[in-house]
Amino acid sequence: MSRLVVVANRIPTPRRGASQAGGLAVALRDARLRRELLWFGWSGEITEIPADSARLTARARAGFALADLSPGEYRGFYRGFANGMLWPLLHFRLGLAEFRRDEFATYSAVNERFARMLAPLLRADDTVWVHDYHLIPFGAALRRLAGTGQTPWTGRLGFFLHVPLPPPALFTALPQADALLADFAAYDLIGVQTRQDAGFLSEMLDARGISPRIGVFPAGIDAERQARTARQQAQGPEARRLAESLGQRALILGIDRLDYSKGLPERLRGFEQMLRRFPEHRHRVTMLQIAPVSRGDVFQYRALRRELDELAGRINAEYAEFDGIPLRYLTRGLARPTLAGFQRLARVGLVTPLRDGMNLVAKEYVAAQDPEDPGVLVLSRFAGAAEDLAAALLVNPHDPDEIAEAIAAALAMGAEERRARWQTLIAAVTTTSAARWAQGFLTTLEAG
Ligand code: G6P
Repeated sequence: MSRLVVVANRIPTPRRGASQAGGLAVALRDARLRRELLWFGWSGEITEIPADSARLTARARAGFALADLSPGEYRGFYRGFANGMLWPLLHFRLGLAEFRRDEFATYSAVNERFARMLAPLLRADDTVWVHDYHLIPFGAALRRLAGTGQTPWTGRLGFFLHVPLPPPALFTALPQADALLADFAAYDLIGVQTRQDAGFLSEMLDARGISPRIGVFPAGIDAERQARTARQQAQGPEARRLAESLGQRALILGIDRLDYSKGLPERLRGFEQMLRRFPEHRHRVTMLQIAPVSRGDVFQYRALRRELDELAGRINAEYAEFDGIPLRYLTRGLARPTLAGFQRLARVGLVTPLRDGMNLVAKEYVAAQDPEDPGVLVLSRFAGAAEDLAAALLVNPHDPDEIAEAIAAALAMGAEERRARWQTLIAAVTTTSAARWAQGFLTTLEAG
């Protein structure tokens, strides 16, 4: 079988170690592909004058080729166009996006430079799989290099978009929309998370006479592994400490990067509204929101952090007792296995993004539950995961009252209904696994 080359901005650099591996690294580990793997992407380092060739290392059967960014590239490519412009736009938040031509130029230039760095490392029959919105033009740049003989590579080229796509009318507000859409033509297969994403993308590409293959491949997890980890960790020291601190109170749990797409202020307001409207639950619940800081040097993220600090303070000031607070809010990250143990303890899993490509936390929460006494998933209807997890309590995350009512319903739900819903959910989580995601994409890419 030919080698698989995975190209992504955020890759599991040997230095960062397994505990900090991103979602993509975890998904590919869980997919158990059993083939030779080369990762290529940003090293996470910023250096004054980045080297022209990638730094090569290897670990546990995988190779790594790492590229640094210059300070200007970091600003224009990562912080600017990718996360200040594309991220909000793709999450339907045009009002938060900042259009800047110079940042688009840097974004294009970094994609070209990255392609030039990977080109000499490629073998003729490598399958190249490019990931996410940072690297849309990467494939076209690589094909141009192949066209002029700067790489022996003639293999398959796939792209997967992990985030959602907005409707065409919104996307085409982007001044560079035509250029970006044209770059999709380079790929043999484009994978997206949901049928809605596929519909929007093909509508935009059709209108421009571009017709690559588009497929829906919902990202997933290894449910058995998550269940095992959760069972073990629920007996571990952190989960025990958490359980002791809760006493008789039920745990409501949220786990998200601190990102405006996750609907965190709306979620806290929903919890506040629940305390106000359903006083019978006031002394019976504790909400734990874990929201590790993300992209902390992007303006909108700093503003969000201030808003959440204020909101969390206000809720606790209003509803705390002299011996306890209703809301525990952490901007620090915890190890993945620890979180799995916490998920098993939680009576309610709150996953209420305003928009999300898929949201694997929702699937992890389901897989972490005790089948005999499962908790209840409250899920935004605007997460990609909602397409498959309709047996959760689906909410419109913009409405704090709806969130409040769903939390109250989850807390009041009897064991029989919880088990019945969970059975349906776990079946969906098991079917849409990480293995099926990766193997489905690669089989389609390589067969065509
Ligand atoms: C989302 C994106 C990924 C990104 C991750 C973390 O899941 O789809 O591409 O890597 O967020 O964000 P960061 O900016 O830290 O890489």
